[in-house]
Amino acid sequence: MEYVSLGRGGPTVSAVGLGMWQAGGKAWGADVRDADCRKAMERAVDLGINLVDTAEAYGDGHSEQVMSRAIKDLGRDRVFIATKVGGWHLRADDVKKACAGSLKRLGVREIDLYQVHWPDPWSQVPLRETMKALEALHRAGRVRNIGVSNFAVRDLEEARSLLSRTDIRSNQVRYNMLQREVEAEVIPYCKREGIAILAWSPIGKGILTGKYHDGKRPTDRIRSDEDLFKAANLRAVTPLIRALRTIGRAHGKTPGQVALAWLRRHRNVVPIPGAKRPSQSQENADAAGWSLSARELRTLGAVLRRIRIDTF
Ligand SMILES: NC(=O)c1ccc[n+]([C@@H]2O[C@H](COP(=O)([O-])OP(=O)(O)OC[C@H]3O[C@@H](n4cnc5c(N)ncnc54)[C@H](OP(=O)(O)O)[C@@H]3O)[C@@H](O)[C@H]2O)c1
Repeated sequence: MEYVSLGRGGPTVSAVGLGMWQAGGKAWGADVRDADCRKAMERAVDLGINLVDTAEAYGDGHSEQVMSRAIKDLGRDRVFIATKVGGWHLRADDVKKACAGSLKRLGVREIDLYQVHWPDPWSQVPLRETMKALEALHRAGRVRNIGVSNFAVRDLEEARSLLSRTDIRSNQVRYNMLQREVEAEVIPYCKREGIAILAWSPIGKGILTGKYHDGKRPTDRIRSDEDLFKAANLRAVTPLIRALRTIGRAHGKTPGQVALAWLRRHRNVVPIPGAKRPSQSQENADAAGWSLSARELRTLGAVLRRIRIDTF
């Protein structure tokens, strides 16, 4: 496994992480089983992946409980635990209680990266209150690093200005070949400021593996209404899948692995693909340790410029 530092001067993490939203219950499909998700994590860690991402929101803490069983088997020191406080828990007291809940479900004494899942527009909690609460948890040793998720540059700047003893380590955002909004502002800002990007949905919820098409669409609750899987979008990505396949063949890699390597062309981006079973973890782990040439990146860039995807 290849390792990188999570943000400038930050802790060492695997160049590809693992997402555990899949372990949050059946929302990802009837084929999701706790035991398979646990084994997916164990395989990932055995292959050198240490960064594992979860959240209190995933199955109301169920994903954290599945993770805790794997952590017990693997040993605490082999896992860099990233979890999140939900956007409905941003009051100071709620942050404290949410953190205690996550620690208990995970069965650990410290969280390696505690992230604000999303900036909440409804309850209008001042960011100052949330950041101060996170800093208190950091001071108390409950949280080793503070991160955020789905923050625009304006939110990041405000959040950073409210921390006095530490800085934001990472921003977890949606980023894949088909959904590239963060390239405009967030990625350049984070690169400049030494903040890591954790890329969620890095294989477009499975679409970039090439296994879905107009005649085969996922039927689970999470993806059945997802814009990416509209018939027109599935048809539109066909030339991209073809290019991923051709380039992958030259490296002995799959389309999904090429899509993950494409994200890793940015030195501060760590993709966190979700896996439902060990074989998926294995394939995703093998997306680290190699890179695309400048020519291959240009070819993919040209294909992407011709594709029109209709999502929000
Ligand atoms: N911060 C946030 O707001 C936020 C939002 C979303 C996700 N996340 C995090 O990011 C992680 C990843 O994002 P995501 O789950 O949305 O999307 P993703 O990683 O792009 O796609 C995951 C799905 O792709 C399929 N898959 C995975 N590996 C595969 C492989 N090697 N070959 C073929 N299919 C494969 C699996 O579904 P099938 O086998 O059923 O196709 C899996 O459920 C999540 O687990 C979560 O930790 C965070």
